[in-house]
Amino acid sequence: MLTLGVESSCDDTAAAVLLDGRRILSNLVSSQDEVHGPYGGVVPELASRQHIRQVLPIMDEALKRAGVKLQDLDGLAVTFGPGLAGSLLVGLSLMKGLSLRWKIPYVGVNHLEGHLLSIFLEKEVAFPYIAMLASGGHTLLYVVSGFGEYRYIGGTQDDAAGEAYDKVAKLMGLGYPGGRVIDQLSKSGSPKAIPFPRARIKKSPYDFSFSGLKTAVLQYIKSHPEEVWSQHKADIAASFQEAVVDMLIAPTLRLADELKIHRVVLAGGVSANSRLRSKMAEKGEEKGVEVHFPSPRFCTDNAAMIALAGYHSLLSGRRDHLSLNADADLTL
Ligand code: KG4
Ligand code: ZN
Repeated sequence: MLTLGVESSCDDTAAAVLLDGRRILSNLVSSQDEVHGPYGGVVPELASRQHIRQVLPIMDEALKRAGVKLQDLDGLAVTFGPGLAGSLLVGLSLMKGLSLRWKIPYVGVNHLEGHLLSIFLEKEVAFPYIAMLASGGHTLLYVVSGFGEYRYIGGTQDDAAGEAYDKVAKLMGLGYPGGRVIDQLSKSGSPKAIPFPRARIKKSPYDFSFSGLKTAVLQYIKSHPEEVWSQHKADIAASFQEAVVDMLIAPTLRLADELKIHRVVLAGGVSANSRLRSKMAEKGEEKGVEVHFPSPRFCTDNAAMIALAGYHSLLSGRRDHLSLNADADLTL
C-alpha cells in the first residue's frame, strides 16, 4: 500500500511516500528557518504563505523520488492539527483536492500521533511503551498501548521544552531555532557551571514547567555585564541544557517505574538533543529501562511520520470526509 503524507502544521513543509507503512520511498522537508530567523520565532502569516509556495514542489519531488505517480497512491495522510490554522489549511486543502480528483481515500492525522509513532519508521518496538514527546510546541508524556491507543499522563504547564531552548537562544543572541545551536555550544561548556533550578510540579510528578528555568537564565544574564557573561556562553548553554534534560528524564523514568513499563520512546524535535539521548540511555540502563529514539531527522517535523500514522488509520478502516476542518488546538 502506497501512502503519501503531507505535513504543514508549523514552519516545515514536508512530503513523504511510504510503502506498506514501513519502507520510506521518499521523505522531503523544506524548512522555513531562514524566513523566521530574523524574527526569533515563527511568524504565522509568513509560514502559511511559504507553505503555499512550497507544498506542490515538495510533493512533486517526493513522488518523483519515490518513482510513483499520484494515480498509483492507495492513501493520503495529512496533518489536520494541532498547529497554526493557516499553515494546516494549506496541506489539508491540497490533500482534499487530490482525494477528490484521484478518488484516493484520505485521513487527517494528529501531528502528535505522528511523533508518538515516529520510532516505527526505523524499528519495531513492542507495546506498551512510555512516550516522552518534547518539541517546540509540546512536552507530553503518554502511554502508547497500540496504534491508535494513547493515554495522556502529563504535560507542560507553561513553555514547551523546545520553546525554552528557542527563548534562551534568543536571550543569548544565538539565533533561531535555538535547540541545535545550544546543543552544539554546550559541548564546549560545563553542565555544572551554573546551578539552574529544576522545577517540579507539586500537583503531579508527571507534569513539566520550563518558564522558571528560562527566567533564571534571564536573571543570570541580567546580573552580569555582557562582556562577562558572553565570555562563558558555552557554560550557560550547557548548564541550561542539563537542567532541561534532568527535568525531562526524571518524570519519564519515574513513570516507567510506577507503571512497570520498562520501555521508553523519545520523540519530537528536542529528542534530537545529544545530551538528552546520552543521559536518558545511561539512566535507563541503570534502571533496567529500554530507551529508543528515532534518528534526528525523524525527531523533528517530517511527513514520513504522518504517512505512517495515516497508514495505520487507513488500515483500521478510517476514512475522512471532505468536511474535515483544520483544528489548531487538536488534542490526543
Ligand atoms: O518537533 P519539531 O520539529 O517541531 C514541533 O512540532 O514543534 O521541534 C522543533 C523544536 C524547536 O524548538 C527546536 O529548537 C528543537 O525542537 N530542537 C532541539 C534540537 N533540535 C531541534 N532542541 C534541543 N536540541 C536539539 N538538538
Ligand atoms: Zn512536531
